Amino acid sequence: MADIDGSNAPKEFYTDIPQKSENFYLKGSNSLDWGMKNRLSRIFNPVSGKTVMLAVDHGYFLGPTAGLERIDVNIVPLIPYADTLMITRGALRTMVPADTQKAIVLRVTGGASILTELSNEDLAVDIEDAIRLNVCAMAVQVYVGSEHEHQTILSMTRMVDMGLRYGMPTLAVTAVGKDMVRDAKYFRLATRICAELGAQYVKTYYISEGFETVTSSCPVPIVIAGGKKLPEIDALTMAYRAIQEGAAGVDMGRNIFQSTAPIAMLKAVRAVVHDNETPEKAFEMYTTLKSEKK
Ligand code: R5P
Repeated sequence: MADIDGSNAPKEFYTDIPQKSENFYLKGSNSLDWGMKNRLSRIFNPVSGKTVMLAVDHGYFLGPTAGLERIDVNIVPLIPYADTLMITRGALRTMVPADTQKAIVLRVTGGASILTELSNEDLAVDIEDAIRLNVCAMAVQVYVGSEHEHQTILSMTRMVDMGLRYGMPTLAVTAVGKDMVRDAKYFRLATRICAELGAQYVKTYYISEGFETVTSSCPVPIVIAGGKKLPEIDALTMAYRAIQEGAAGVDMGRNIFQSTAPIAMLKAVRAVVHDNETPEKAFEMYTTLKSEKK
């Protein structure tokens, strides 16, 4: 087969330029395979190193949560403003257009409902289906210290093994039992267990005291859940503090989709996460965008 027909020009091999061998920008991710890194780079912005994940997977144990009654109506219009959508396969297949360019993080555990013991979860999706759906990571709930601790930790390690086989990151979601104390000591324990057992990144809650010890003792990136709906300024302040204290992003649901102006809120959260904007400035942005909408 011809190379370039009729060309006598000498080939350029750039012999004076050494091939680059760069470290991957994400904490603890340098030794991962190319496909895994590529998927992570679709979740974590390569410029800021951070992510704004929009979490809408609550229905897998809560049913039609306020704000998620109609994902096609309420959530699809928000997708362009998030980096990543965290969702179940049922909602993805039925309500999200397949031409979305955003990275999807797939909820792959389930098996309990709000009516029963929540920690009684197991893997509820096969990795083949995650690959079929072209997702960028799989989210597994881990209940350290709860009744089904052992089972949920081992679900995570099974997913990590399968993920390593196919280049698919596992996000370990640390879930706190109803009666358990949410403090730095607990989150250091839970996040470290998840990372030591192979999760590529970990989701946890922000705590006002000692959060920086949680992020610094966890060798992989940490993102924070938003938790129950707060006044917008408080949610922005929480996101700001989390980022300043070492989080690599947010995985926020109710504080966005239950806001009276979800797109404005998403934009304000982005400013805090990607641009280190202060909560006050971001809140100003939120109120301006909200009033423009009216
Ligand atoms: C729990 O249902 C899921 O893991 C959510 O994705 C997680 O709690 C984040 O959502 P929110 O910000 O509403 O807490």
